[in-house]
Amino acid sequence: MICTTLPRNKRVLVRVDLNVPVHDDRVMDDTRMRLIVPTIKALRQAKNQCFLIAHLGRPKGWDPHLSLRLLVPILEHLLEESVTFAPDIKNIPDTALLKGCVLLENVRFYPEEEANEVSFSQHLARLGDFYVNDAFSASHRAHASIVGVPAYLPHAAGPLFQQELKALQRIVECPIPPVIAIVGGGKISTKFGLLHNLLKKTSVLAVGGGLAHTLLAAQDYIIGQSLCEMSMLDQARTFLKQVQHHSCTLLLPIDVVVRTKDGTERVCEVKEIPSDAVCLDVGPATCQYISEAITQANTVLWNGPLGRFEEPPFHKATEKIMHTIAEETQRRGMVSVIGGGDSVAALNAAKMDFAQFSYVSTSGGAFLEFLEGKELPGIQALR
Ligand code: 3PG
Repeated sequence: MICTTLPRNKRVLVRVDLNVPVHDDRVMDDTRMRLIVPTIKALRQAKNQCFLIAHLGRPKGWDPHLSLRLLVPILEHLLEESVTFAPDIKNIPDTALLKGCVLLENVRFYPEEEANEVSFSQHLARLGDFYVNDAFSASHRAHASIVGVPAYLPHAAGPLFQQELKALQRIVECPIPPVIAIVGGGKISTKFGLLHNLLKKTSVLAVGGGLAHTLLAAQDYIIGQSLCEMSMLDQARTFLKQVQHHSCTLLLPIDVVVRTKDGTERVCEVKEIPSDAVCLDVGPATCQYISEAITQANTVLWNGPLGRFEEPPFHKATEKIMHTIAEETQRRGMVSVIGGGDSVAALNAAKMDFAQFSYVSTSGGAFLEFLEGKELPGIQALR
């Protein structure tokens, strides 16, 4: 059992995920910041003092460009209250003197965080009376702020964590068949675990993006200069053999949109990809048959874009699939779960409303590991 009751009148350590994209010291997408607002507001309304613990990026030591100080004005605007910044986690003045909401500096500036050092967890735990994990998306990390601190304090899962867990459990444990999964993105090496698990759970598995290029290359198709992990070809062949032992239908692209060396763009069948071309999207025929599979499904899981969506016209397939999923969800209550940083970025780029889907998860690695069937350390720590 995981406790879900939030405390009242306490000093609460709240682990949140503020790992937002930053460029030139500007936040490029504040989705994750907006998502934690209801949790913090609920805790503050229950008269708690909140200490927000979060990371930004993967710093090796102190890095001014990854300081969470950058987020203070945005948080103050979203939370509609002032936020005190604590620049040194190891030297926090008397916590009783800090009122309201306190944002601690990037917890990954301290190597003890990733090493899950006991003394660091104990130090963090002394700042509060209660611990809330609302960072499902960082809960695949066995770090001090995720698994260490809850060992020393009464703890609960925050509302966003609970929503995420419930949506993913629904997909993994009791999906309404037929289930289709659409998996895209760049590197197949990061997704073999997911693909193998999905073979057992889905009727149709559609693969696009760089993942598909590696699977096509493993079947001796010429894929030109397209993104492909040549070192993964043997694993790709093993996966393709595995497909034959399952009742799942694997949908690979039958056509692609390519850019040739002279800069021209065109659609071609996968058996005719020119050797100087780069595949940048799946083609309209592929898109059509994935869309048809969606209309036959009762549950859809989508992770990873099918093409280079950030560079039109190579956004077309990803956008068409997103619209089909949204329409089917709205029209007949099909269950749709979308996850992963790039999928969320694609939804935002197309200005799609998250409410059109059953659930949109901002988790990347945690989403993949959960769907691979692993129990996340952050979930274990709350049990
Ligand atoms: C994420 O962005 O997926 C989470 O914040 C976890 O970040 P990490 O992959 O750097 O641990």
